[in-house]
Parts: sequence; structure tokens; C-alpha cells
Amino acid sequence: VGTKTVNNDGHLIIAGINTLDLAKEYGTPLFVYDVALIKERANAFMQTFKNLETPAQVAYASKAFSSIAMYQLAKELELSLDVVSLGELYTALQSGFPKEKIHFHGNNKSEQELKYAIEEKIGCIVVDNFHEINVLRRLLQEYQYSMPILLRVTPGIEAHTHDYITTGQSDSKFGFDLENGQLDQAFQLVKEEPFMNLLGIHAHIGSQIFDTAAFSLAAEKLLHKMVEWKTQDGFTCSVLNLGGGFGIRYTKEDHPLPASRYVEDMIQSVKRICEKASFPLPEIWIEPGRSLVGDAGTTLYTIGSSKEIPGKASYVAVDGGMSDNIRPALYQAKYDAIVANKGNHPANTLVTIAGKCCESGDKLIENIFLPSMEAGDILAVHCTGAYGYSMASNYNRLQKPAVVFVEDGKSKLVVKRESLEDLVRQELFLLDSEVSRG
Ligand code: LLP
Repeated sequence: VGTKTVNNDGHLIIAGINTLDLAKEYGTPLFVYDVALIKERANAFMQTFKNLETPAQVAYASKAFSSIAMYQLAKELELSLDVVSLGELYTALQSGFPKEKIHFHGNNKSEQELKYAIEEKIGCIVVDNFHEINVLRRLLQEYQYSMPILLRVTPGIEAHTHDYITTGQSDSKFGFDLENGQLDQAFQLVKEEPFMNLLGIHAHIGSQIFDTAAFSLAAEKLLHKMVEWKTQDGFTCSVLNLGGGFGIRYTKEDHPLPASRYVEDMIQSVKRICEKASFPLPEIWIEPGRSLVGDAGTTLYTIGSSKEIPGKASYVAVDGGMSDNIRPALYQAKYDAIVANKGNHPANTLVTIAGKCCESGDKLIENIFLPSMEAGDILAVHCTGAYGYSMASNYNRLQKPAVVFVEDGKSKLVVKRESLEDLVRQELFLLDSEVSRG
């Protein structure tokens, strides 16, 4: 994957840097991001829109991994940004990200969040529900400010990793239902609002999807609605936002298409319908998260204890776990790994990689063949770049890992490892500190 290789000593090299040196310099657990790979992924998306005769935006869904450095990289790559909270918006603005390229999502945005978005004049707000229409209308009137908006649509397509189903009725907590009139009702409410500048509609049908038909079908459904509004109401939407969700390859069992293929297929569907209906080709926006940063991330751990289980894979424990990667415990997500200092040893030992949290379910990889390991070895878990660090917690008061970016043989620390002081920073004494420390 990417610029990963194993050198003659059997050491894992990422972007020209020996991962054992990274582990030594920055400690473990450590998130390592291969910057060149993120650039490659971003450029591939950009390229798909290159010859399209309408503007496009590739917005990085920053929930996958948000940090000041990542926002700065996204800016450098000329991506737009999808943020979903005050915290993400604040961090993006701290990084110097261009405000007009930020899109704000969320099914329960607070007044504080909406005010912040208005005050900062960000690119657009993706309006999710009727309550939000009411609050936003009032705030925009107060500010006398016209905000570009999209309406979030639930198109009745539920996509899972390998397949999708269409449902007339959606039970998603997000967006206005396309099929039961909610979307039309929302459209009627906002289309003539003086302070809401309705650009178009948005749908996101799920995450880690492999099936191109699901994306194309969503694009078609949204476009049909846009055509209907034009014919019936004389209103022409100018933006079609097709969300993210493009699947990546975590293990050998995953067979996604290259992410840009999903986008190409959607563009074809959109073009076809536009031509047929004589509808002007809208701007096409997408919002990939995982497919931009997922496989660029690798987590380095140090091996500690192990435990034999008769007749089963032995446990080998690492110095992190569900606190830095909740996905196996939460979604039964599968990962692949390599022993970073034994890349040339035969993978002949069946093990289960356990974390160090006080929870039996804290297993990162079950039943994987790896070289025989001992304490002090470095394990590299692949494809941890999306929803790893961003979903990390301080469970068991573990300190959140450090994050480094690597490129062209150089490494750069972009998030420091949490210190013990960080863990108690927000806390107040119940008893006088002298007394309580005895
Ligand atoms: N746009 C919207 C509106 C979304 O809700 C999401 C993800 C994305 C874009 C980006 O989707 P992606 O390209 O990353 O699949 N924590 C879960 C994934 C949750 C995704 C939530 N929404 C996981 O670790 O698998």
C-alpha cells in the first residue's frame, strides 16, 4: 500500500523512513500518515472532475481525521471541507482554512454553532431538518445575512459495505425524506426565504460502500427531484452534493473499485439525466473522508505481554487498543498488520492482537498469521487513517497517541502525545490538593 516497503533487514519503511526509528523517536502507540498517499488520493478525485464542463468541489469529510495539520494539508490540496461541529469548525479556522470552502453538516446543530457559521460567513450550511430551518431563519434575519444552503436528503437507499437496499421509507436520523413529501415541504419553506440562498441538495448514503450502483441510483433520484422542481416551480438548483462513503481495502477480503471510479459513474448518471431532461448540469460536490486518509494511516504499537490459549490463537497484547481504534470493537472492523521489525520472518503464528484496555472485547485483530512475536517488537496496523484517531478516547485514562506526518524521508510531529497533566487539565479538586495527596 502506498509508499510502504520492507528493507533488507525486514524493517517496515514508510515514505522512506524506518518505522522503528519513528517508534523510537516519538514513542508508541503512534499514528503515522503517509502524506504522499493522501495527495495521490485527493488528486485522483480532482482528476475525475477535470474535464467536466461544470464546477466541482471535493470536500474532505474531516470527521475521518481532523487536526490543524490535516486541515492545512487539505487547504494545500485545494480541497473544500465538511465540518460537523463547533470543534471541527473552530479547528479548521485555527488552521487558516479558507472559510468560503467550508460546509457545515449535522442533524442537531446548536444555535451557537449556527451563529458561529454565520459570523464567520462560511461556504454553506447543509440544512438537515425542520427545526433547523426555523432556527436558521430567525438567526439569519437577526444578522440580516444571506447564507448559502443545501437541503440534506434521505434518498431511501441504504448502502452497506457490499450491497445496498432501497427502502420507500427511511429510518435515518439524517435529512429530509425524499419519498414521503418532507423534502418538498422543506423546499417550499426555504425557496423564497430572503436570507436563505438555496443552492441545491445533498445526500450521503452510507460509508465504506463498494457498490457503484448505489451511488448512481442516489444521484439519479436527487437529479429527478431537481428536474421536478424546475418544471413545477421554476426553481433551478445549481449544486448536487453526492456525499462520501467510497470504500477502501482494509484486508484481502475487501475489493473496492478505485474511489474515482465511483465518482465517474455518478457523473455519467448525472450527465445522462441532465441531457435527457434538458436540465443544466449542476455543480457536483462530493465529500470523501475515509477514502482520502484511511489507507494513508498506519498505527505503530509496541508488543508487551502474551497469553497462550489451548487450541486457539494466543493473545499478543499491544500498548494501545480500543482507546486509539474503537472500530474492531464497535463495528467488528477487520484490519491487517505486519511486524515492523520482522517483515522478512515467516508469518507462521496464529495470534489475536489484544489491546490493553480493561475490556475483553478490546481486540484489534482476531486470528491473524504473523511472525512469532516477543515483547519489544513493533506491530504496524495498516489502514488506520480514518476514524481511528478521531474516535480515540481516554478510556482507562490512556493518553491519546501522537500523530506524525511522513513524506520524502522526513517526519513531522503534528499532534503531540497527551501527557499525564493533559489528563487532569480540566479537573478541579474536591479536597485541598495538599490534604488529598496526604
Ligand atoms: N458526508 C457525510 C454527510 C457523512 O455523514 C460522512 C460520514 C461522510 C461524508 C464521509 O464518509 P466516508 O467517505 O468517510 O465514508 N465511524 C464510522 C464511519 C462513520 C461515517 C459517518 N459519516 C467508521 O469508522 O466506519
